[in-house]
Amino acid sequence: MDRNEILHWLKEEDAERLEALWARADRARRENVGDAVHLRGLVEISNYCVRSCAYCGLRVGNSGVERYRMSMEEVLECARTAERFGYGTLVVQSGEDPGIGADWVSDLVRRVKTETPLAVTLSLGERGDEELAAWRKAGADRYLLRFETSNPNLYESIHPSLPGRRSDRIALLRRIRDLGYEVGSGAMIGIPGQTYEDLADDIEMFRDLDLDMIGVGPFIPHPGTPLGLAAADGAGCEADQVPNSELMTYKVVALTRIVCPLTNIPSTTALATLNLAEGRELGLSRGANVVMPNLTPVEYRSLYEIYPAKACLFETGEECHACLSRRIASIGRTPGQGPGGSLNIQLRRDRGEVSRPKDERSSEAG
Ligand code: 5AD
Ligand code: FES
Repeated sequence: MDRNEILHWLKEEDAERLEALWARADRARRENVGDAVHLRGLVEISNYCVRSCAYCGLRVGNSGVERYRMSMEEVLECARTAERFGYGTLVVQSGEDPGIGADWVSDLVRRVKTETPLAVTLSLGERGDEELAAWRKAGADRYLLRFETSNPNLYESIHPSLPGRRSDRIALLRRIRDLGYEVGSGAMIGIPGQTYEDLADDIEMFRDLDLDMIGVGPFIPHPGTPLGLAAADGAGCEADQVPNSELMTYKVVALTRIVCPLTNIPSTTALATLNLAEGRELGLSRGANVVMPNLTPVEYRSLYEIYPAKACLFETGEECHACLSRRIASIGRTPGQGPGGSLNIQLRRDRGEVSRPKDERSSEAG
């Protein structure tokens, strides 16, 4: 699909014509990644953050947040729950928190990998090359870092760099790939100032980066953030502004599936937040093949407030599990078995393009 066609679909508003896009995306999903919906248990291990992203409720300047950091034992308990529920992956996420040390994460990864059959995905923000290499060596399989928008000026304006360390997530994603991780990224939809051209660029960037996982969700204004306040003041009403709507999110999910057919695509919580009744299911029916049930202990849930009114804030892991299992069955799909790794990376491995940590290679050779 070329750029003009992407732009055409992004601007299409007619419900009947859009049916053709949904059908094409659903067919691409079925033919390339099948009917399995992979379950990734999400643990939000710390809401400390040193960054000042203009959109995110965890930003350091938001003094209204009570901060927490989970203990190793608490995280391991979540891993055991994930295993008990039959999930293939544990996703370990946090704000950008230097208080979570490199060695601590390495220990955690090693313990999850030795004590459970789970794949481990890390999503800990922009961390140093040495740390990322150490975690990969400890056994981490995947890394998630959204580039948020491929427009450098818009990115700069909503994502200030730390002093002396220019933030370049695209470059960092390429280095993460070189370390042998499966790489996930994604973007927000409807950021004030984001145009249709920008969004088409984002989708083309997904293709250029050859991503293994792509998560997209609508921008949801948070009143404790500069961008949330600006949105309340009417920012983002220009003519070519992309709406942060549910429909626009489905279009991006569908186009992403068509452009990156083998990629793992979650039906995100931000989408479910806009439509609690059936957002998850519609995401899964229009290109997505992954869901991420929340395993964060309930006492921490409401403190991990990236944006307000997040779906299923008060649900226990047990409840999230039951709810998502029911939703998957209701649309005739099946829960995935095993880690649900990237089919992309398999192709790259077959072509000899993927480097793996020495340990893994030598154990295989032996
Ligand atoms: N609305 C929607 N998504 C958000 N994220 C952060 N803040 C918001 C918001 N206000 C997304 C970003 C980030 C991911 C963890 O959550 O894309 O990468
Ligand atoms: Fe968590 Fe439904 S997805 S309760």
